[in-house]
Amino acid sequence: MEQSMVHIPVDILYKFMVAVFTGTGISEKDAKTCADVLIKSDLRGIESHGIGRLRMYYERLKAGLIEPSVTPSIVRESPTTAVVEGNHGMGMVIATQAMQMAIDKAREYGMGAVAVRNSTHFGIDGYYPLMAIEHNMIGMSFTNARPCVSPTHGTQPTLGTNPISFGAPTDEECPFLYDGATSITQRGKIEVLARAEKPVPAGWVIDQNNQPMLDADQILDAILADDAALLPLGGESERLGGHKGYCLSTMVEILSSALQSGAFLFQLSGLDENKQPTRFRVGHFFMAMDIGSFLPPDEFKHNIGELLRTLRATRKAPGQERIYTAGEKEFEMEKYVRANGVPVNANLRKDILYLQQELNLPGFVFTD
Ligand SMILES: NC(=O)c1ccc[n+]([C@@H]2O[C@H](COP(=O)([O-])OP(=O)(O)OC[C@H]3O[C@@H](n4cnc5c(N)ncnc54)[C@H](O)[C@@H]3O)[C@@H](O)[C@H]2O)c1
Repeated sequence: MEQSMVHIPVDILYKFMVAVFTGTGISEKDAKTCADVLIKSDLRGIESHGIGRLRMYYERLKAGLIEPSVTPSIVRESPTTAVVEGNHGMGMVIATQAMQMAIDKAREYGMGAVAVRNSTHFGIDGYYPLMAIEHNMIGMSFTNARPCVSPTHGTQPTLGTNPISFGAPTDEECPFLYDGATSITQRGKIEVLARAEKPVPAGWVIDQNNQPMLDADQILDAILADDAALLPLGGESERLGGHKGYCLSTMVEILSSALQSGAFLFQLSGLDENKQPTRFRVGHFFMAMDIGSFLPPDEFKHNIGELLRTLRATRKAPGQERIYTAGEKEFEMEKYVRANGVPVNANLRKDILYLQQELNLPGFVFTD
């Protein structure tokens, strides 16, 4: 049965996020940065990484797994590169500072690349290339994550869902923004299905014996117990290219750990050798490329615009009305959500009301 849904105005949800973050000891400036990243996810229709994750951050902060008020430090730096130590602070704060460093370096020298270690979950990967696009740059962002994806021919949850995002400005209103996990699905989408009490499609998750798993709650528990794994992009075997998703995920894991001597694979489980919760030690990698160092930005924007328009104008498959290019769906969704509010189902509303009570924030009303 479909759950009842309310649509909460974006500004109310944003202010609530800021209030929850400041209520956990984060400064107002940093709380706004965190809320900006979270609300961008809701605006773009990415249900898995917005308000739905607020309780997770709150619980990790409360448990001391994330430091509310540390500042990232620079370990090593050159004109075009840097290694940043996150000091276990809020991932969104560390990531926006690191991406800003990459942008500043690219403005000065054409390119900037920043590797980060000992950070925490930073929300949607695509937020950070969007920062570069604002400056007429190409932006790229990568992060590793808790182990939950099996390598091809394996069944053990080993790699993170390790997203890749790549963004570039175009001569259209909507920039090009590819932002996706290197697994068929990501853990957040399983959480969304669990809250919506819906089954997980066959082909997304396998058990220890390589058999499909369909129950979202069971899957979330089984991944933690090492008994289930999400499949890499392309799926379970080499036949449909599962090995390519696996290798792309490994590439992200390398960029997110090897250059900064950070944690990788099982070291990101969030559990210590006694199976007690411990810090996640997530790594990220950001790149910015200044388009003006290659050619006049308007020429680039026209080139990419023509490329995307050509793609969209190609022959449609029977029954399909439209060919999309990356970022279009989310761009259109943002306009819709700004006008209509963020859809929140009954289970998610319960989480919001729980946080409201925990932090004693009576001033908020969560209805349409
Ligand atoms: N921080 C983390 O640890 C972490 C880990 C995994 C995923 N994530 C985030 O989760 C979010 C969702 O990831 P996902 O893998 O479910 O993304 P997705 O599958 O919903 O979309 C991936 C990309 O495909 C594009 N797209 C969708 N349909 C298309 C079509 N028909 N034609 C062309 N392009 C199309 C989208 O614009 C998007 O850029 C992302 O924001 C990602 O960064 C974060």
